[in-house]
Amino acid sequence: MAKRIILDCDPGHDDAVAILLALASTDELEVLGLTVVGGNVPLHSTLLNARKVVTLAQRECKVFAGCPRPMMRDIVTAEHVHGETGLDSGSGTPLGEPTVPVESTHAVNFIVETVRAEPENSVTLVAIGPLTNIAVAFAMAPDIIPRMHELVIMGGAGFEPGNITPAAEFNIYVDPQAARAVFDSGVNLIMFGLDITHQMLITPPRLEAVNRDGGRVGTVVADLLDFFNQYDISKYGWEGAPLHDPCTIAYLIEPAIFEMRKMHVVVDTTDGPSLGRTVTDWWGATQEKPNAMVATGGNADRFFGLITERLKLL
Ligand code: RIB
Ligand code: CA
Repeated sequence: MAKRIILDCDPGHDDAVAILLALASTDELEVLGLTVVGGNVPLHSTLLNARKVVTLAQRECKVFAGCPRPMMRDIVTAEHVHGETGLDSGSGTPLGEPTVPVESTHAVNFIVETVRAEPENSVTLVAIGPLTNIAVAFAMAPDIIPRMHELVIMGGAGFEPGNITPAAEFNIYVDPQAARAVFDSGVNLIMFGLDITHQMLITPPRLEAVNRDGGRVGTVVADLLDFFNQYDISKYGWEGAPLHDPCTIAYLIEPAIFEMRKMHVVVDTTDGPSLGRTVTDWWGATQEKPNAMVATGGNADRFFGLITERLKLL
């Protein structure tokens, strides 16, 4: 039976691939809706981008507008990585105009109402942007935390340095108070941080395969990733940019791709150089009860092979 998910996102190139992978994988996943948050670019752009990606997929999927800014801080965005639109392409060709509307229900209300309405333990939340929508939903309706199946996030970093500050990964850093609330909530938490996503590099052979073997959508995605590669290749000097967000979806489709380890993780919310750091207790030094399953390794070739073969289905 397909896993039923709500995908909370801030498209964003890697979010776009995660959305497409999820919509293409109908045997394994039923996407109940996309909830959108401000992050990589402001909410009006992440919302437009989510609608454009669903239109590109030519699949039915409702899109809900969520929180435009973090709970206590001004928003930090990442146009330097994703371009002014949030989905700039290598060729400069924009995605087509959306045919998908924005639903009138607020994203947070959709999350709460859906988890309450669906059978217990049947809904999985996937969050691949700042955790503002998730934290607000948990504060508004704590009853959904034990009722939902699990929360799978792209965010944080254990041993890897941060990517927006030396200590913090972007999704956590944008709204560290929201992240702290989510990590401390008791939810069944699966964390895909930079320790794993920095192993999933969009190398030239992998990019060529997406373009060559990914069908109609693969050529569009390759054009997007051609732009997305530029900043991180110049920053890290690697063969390709890390493709962060689709790790969460690939895990739900084929968990054997990844190695996981349960450990305690706490988010540093102190103002200073470590703001937004996910302090991961890899060796159980604190005796704190583990609260997250953290991805530590994975098969990058299988990861990109899965993405390529599924894009071809759209
Ligand atoms: O740090 C990477 C994460 O921040 C990804 O989810 C990317 O899309 C941005 O949201
Ligand atoms: Ca994202």
